[in-house]
Amino acid sequence: MKKQGLNIPRNYNTAAPLAVRAEGIYIYDENDKRYIDGCCGALIANIGYCVPEVVEAIVKQLRTLNFAHPSRWKNEAIETAAEKLAELTPGDLNNIWFVSGGSEAIESALKLARQYYVERDGKSSSKHLFIGRWNSYHGGTLGCMAVAGNMSRRKIFSPLFMEHPKIEPHYCYRCPFGLQYPACDIRCARQLEETILRMGAESIVAFIAEPVVGSTVGALVPPVEYWPLVRDICNRYDILLIADEVMTGMGRTGKAFCLDHWDVVPDIIASAKGMAAGYMPAGGIFVSNTLMDVIKKESGNFAHGHTYNANPLVGAAVSAVVDYIKKHNLIENAAKQGERLEEEIRSLEEIPIVGDLRGLGLMRGVELVADKKTKKPFPAKEKAAALVAAECMSRGLVIYPSSGMVNGGTAGDNFLLAPALTVTEGQIVEIVGILRESLTAAAELLL
Ligand SMILES: Cc1ncc(COP(=O)(O)O)c(C=O)c1O
Repeated sequence: MKKQGLNIPRNYNTAAPLAVRAEGIYIYDENDKRYIDGCCGALIANIGYCVPEVVEAIVKQLRTLNFAHPSRWKNEAIETAAEKLAELTPGDLNNIWFVSGGSEAIESALKLARQYYVERDGKSSSKHLFIGRWNSYHGGTLGCMAVAGNMSRRKIFSPLFMEHPKIEPHYCYRCPFGLQYPACDIRCARQLEETILRMGAESIVAFIAEPVVGSTVGALVPPVEYWPLVRDICNRYDILLIADEVMTGMGRTGKAFCLDHWDVVPDIIASAKGMAAGYMPAGGIFVSNTLMDVIKKESGNFAHGHTYNANPLVGAAVSAVVDYIKKHNLIENAAKQGERLEEEIRSLEEIPIVGDLRGLGLMRGVELVADKKTKKPFPAKEKAAALVAAECMSRGLVIYPSSGMVNGGTAGDNFLLAPALTVTEGQIVEIVGILRESLTAAAELLL
């Protein structure tokens, strides 16, 4: 009898529809039902699906040079992609290490940061800890989970990795310190300094965080003072700043990279998702000259590697995506339509389960609550975010639900709304219209 191969799905308990084709911001299932992708998968398909010129650029590269092992060859496609990306990166973050996704980018950032200190200060460098934040996600591999703080995603694996120190996030809606902005004096940023002092700066390699917290909490935007203060603390204690821009980068928030909103230049940016926008599994780290100059002068090689590092197909996809973003002014469109989206979703405030609306550019988050006044979350067993997502799906809209950001990972529901950077005003009105109906229906079921 012929053996049947079975793909392991993300979840055996929920039946996902079959995606058959896609175009622009729409995905179609096997019954030709049309869904608006209101979250670009997970903030990936930033330029829309199946854009002909991007597809053609990849096919051309596939016919010319599909692979060249990076330990033995250079390739033109990846060099061109690096040049194009460097036009978008802040400061002197011109040195780009290409990988296949966000988790690999974070792993690369952690290793490069540690290697920098070992080569700068000698093999005995005691810098080996990374300060992360509670409620954060940086990827599914062990190194990424070790520096992240989303308990619901990491709890069962925590015996497998070394624990790194964590500080509280800028969760102003539920301030972890019970304070209020601006009287709080940005206590959450100042906790970074306290933690450095407690652990000893000589043991800390870097602080790693998302400029706007993405999937775990739902588009948390920090107070304006937060990032300049964090940069200053890192500088004062000789600690690197790693920005996880896997979600927020490549124009998503209305600037090329999210830290540009506060004119803060990190030492390393980790990027992925929108970098090749779903046309190839792509990611990368953008590294400052200061770091690379030390590595060039000392060992001369980054002690890290993956088979698909610097892959020519990734190079072709990234170049075509960046060209498309520039040609159609998509970063500017993200800023403009982001404001439109903000205005439109404000009308959701009156729905009784909508607790908080937040976000930047085309990255918007909605926190769901059982009681608006007390901010009481729904019991986890209600699966409120998943229920809202299901209501949206049945009406032809895809959103990105998440839960577990309250009470140590045991409660809390939110979702992200993040349409493609190509989105039009008409599409925004349609998206929010479907969302309003879905939230109202979910509220009736939940309350
Ligand atoms: C902020 C952030 N960092 C890292 C990752 C990991 O990226 P990947 O899933 O491509 O490995 C993700 C994925 O969702 C993410 O949102």
